[in-house]
Amino acid sequence: MIEYIPGLERVPAAESSLSFIDGEKGILEYRGIRIEDLAENCTFDEVCFLLLEGRLPTASGLDEFTRREREARQLDPYMVDLIRCLPKDAHPMAKLQTCVSAMGMWMGPLGMYNDETRMEWAIRFIGRFPSIIPAIHRTSVGRDIVEPDVTLGRSSDFLRMLTGEAPDPRIANTLNVALILHAEHAMNASTFATRVVASTESEPGAAIAAAVGSLAGPLHGGANERVIGMLEEIGSVEAVQPWFEKKMANQERIMGMGHRVYSTKDPRATILQGLCHKIPEVKSGTRLCDIAMELERLAVPELGRNGIYPNVDFYSGILYHQIGIPTDLFTSVFALARIAGWMAHWMEQMRRNRIFRPTQIYKGPRDVPFTPMDRRG
Ligand code: CMC
Repeated sequence: MIEYIPGLERVPAAESSLSFIDGEKGILEYRGIRIEDLAENCTFDEVCFLLLEGRLPTASGLDEFTRREREARQLDPYMVDLIRCLPKDAHPMAKLQTCVSAMGMWMGPLGMYNDETRMEWAIRFIGRFPSIIPAIHRTSVGRDIVEPDVTLGRSSDFLRMLTGEAPDPRIANTLNVALILHAEHAMNASTFATRVVASTESEPGAAIAAAVGSLAGPLHGGANERVIGMLEEIGSVEAVQPWFEKKMANQERIMGMGHRVYSTKDPRATILQGLCHKIPEVKSGTRLCDIAMELERLAVPELGRNGIYPNVDFYSGILYHQIGIPTDLFTSVFALARIAGWMAHWMEQMRRNRIFRPTQIYKGPRDVPFTPMDRRG
């Protein structure tokens, strides 16, 4: 008798050397290195190299990777045309998914059956995301697309292409840390989607389009946008307690809390929470962060008994709000980071591939006699 495990909880879907999570102790490592050390000391490009190559880069290795990533930011003319054609009011994640699937059209000339061409795919995807996401935003608000500047780091150039202005370097550094924290997270739904599509040997545009579609959902990356809506709805620190009591009485979920793997506070949430208080001259003040911290204070004694604590999305949206990113782009910023992990998983899957073909437990009827059309009621 095969046991059905809803949500494949604890079912290993791959052997991977990319990230390690200890959900009870709240530990996350990329290639064995603690996330706290990477966040403190690295650029996002260094972390991409680590995930893709399995080791931290030397100075010259990083220079070469960075040069290629920056060159890859240039948008293809067809991509610009495509973005301009998309409905203005569609969600940016739906648009990103469309753009990603169009990126698969490089497939013809590139190929994907050796490490070198797979690395080229990875760099192209990682490089294009910081240009595509601002282009999607700017066209939707009737503004011109800003060209990439290859002299700038990923976070600075992303913010510049988004707003049209050079960002405060301290804000760009804050975003760099947030991107590192979101770069990779083992067998989550979007990574699983990447690996399932990769396993059929479809081109990577198809695999990453599936990942983007999966990340958009409110139970996954889409939670960060919902958290801001929730905090705005609460409105003030004083209003947290009655709001929380009502939610608990109605058995409703608190967005940004709970995780399949962590039964303690997500280590990324701890770092992001600290950053929310460090950003200099926060334009929007700390009101939302104060509400979130009060909500955490009340929720942890109640929900923590069941292993439900703040996850990465609880504080990431607040941070993005503080650095001036529009709310409907929060999940796209998650994708701006997670593209590194998706591409590393795609490469890992392609190196040792077997098509995913799980089973099911059939619960329907058998041997039903066929009813002709004139006798169907
Ligand atoms: N608030 C209140 N109760 C919760 C929450 C929550 N946020 N999350 C889970 N529970 C309860 C749930 O009601 C259930 O209770 P019961 O057993 O009495 O029915 C129990 O905990 C188990 O829930 P589950 O849905 O079976 O747990 P899961 O591991 O399948 O789901 C989750 C994990 C992240 C989808 C869920 O915790 C959730 O919906 N959280 C809110 C959305 C969210 O913040 N998502 C971001 C996840 S982290 C970043 C990412 O991966 O993108």
